[in-house]
Amino acid sequence: MSRIAYVNGRYLPQGEARVSIEDRGFQFADGVYEVCEVRAGRIVDERRHMARLDRSLKELRIAPPMAPAALAVVMRETIARNRVRDGIVYVQVTRGAARRDFPFPPQVRPSLVVTARGNDRARIDQLAAEGVAVVTVPDIRWGRVDIKSVALLPNVLAKQAAREQGAREAWLIDAQGRITEGASSSAWIVTRDGTILTHPLGHDVLPGITRAVLLDVIRAQGLAVEERAFTREEAYAAREAFITSASQIVIPVVSIDGRPVGNGAPGLIATALRRDYHRYAELS
Ligand code: PDD
Repeated sequence: MSRIAYVNGRYLPQGEARVSIEDRGFQFADGVYEVCEVRAGRIVDERRHMARLDRSLKELRIAPPMAPAALAVVMRETIARNRVRDGIVYVQVTRGAARRDFPFPPQVRPSLVVTARGNDRARIDQLAAEGVAVVTVPDIRWGRVDIKSVALLPNVLAKQAAREQGAREAWLIDAQGRITEGASSSAWIVTRDGTILTHPLGHDVLPGITRAVLLDVIRAQGLAVEERAFTREEAYAAREAFITSASQIVIPVVSIDGRPVGNGAPGLIATALRRDYHRYAELS
């Protein structure tokens, strides 16, 4: 079965799906995106993802491509046409296609692409059971990474550097030696005294939806948590570490720059949080 993409009003086999070479997403990375988890055919935390999409669009003054209810229909239709039960739905909005010129074009219609694909849930569960390695790299991104823009070249390079060192994720280090987040995930540690730490929100991290829901889970369970930046040295000394993202939820980190985290096995807190996550997430 060929995969089906929604592109500017039409559902097409992916091999036939096209946007213009003048699309500003292609020319300038002038666009934003969202990735939502799909679980048992339902979208997880859709409300919060759509609120973040709306915010990203507003920050860049890109017009919404369609009304929220219509977009919800397109997302569901794309999931159904691709027969996705467990996987992700991807939504990308760019400012649209216009003759190449840096300022916003006076009249332009935003481009909308929606795709969906299944993932191998057993494989992700396996990854979580084994834990993953991360390596640290300098955070060379721009100053507004709270906007979920498609300008991801620093993330691509960081992830590639991680792969070349046999690691699954790169943790990005700011000029002060603190970890901001992963190349495509939020970063967390559990200190020796059992406090869970993750970077506070601001212009220097993406406001992860999985992060937000997980903070609810953590608080509901009465665990100690602080939204504060931590250094690479604190991460090396941590009892546990983990990453979160919509596509993989909670994944324990078992080594950082080749040094084992704790006893080198997935942490108890991370494993429990992974297990409990979907009791708190919204399914729609
Ligand atoms: N990445 N930080 C960055 C830089 C990310 O790219 C992501 C998500 C996250 C986690 O956000 P959320 O919990 O809302 O998925 C944090 C997605 C999955 C991606 O680009 O594929």
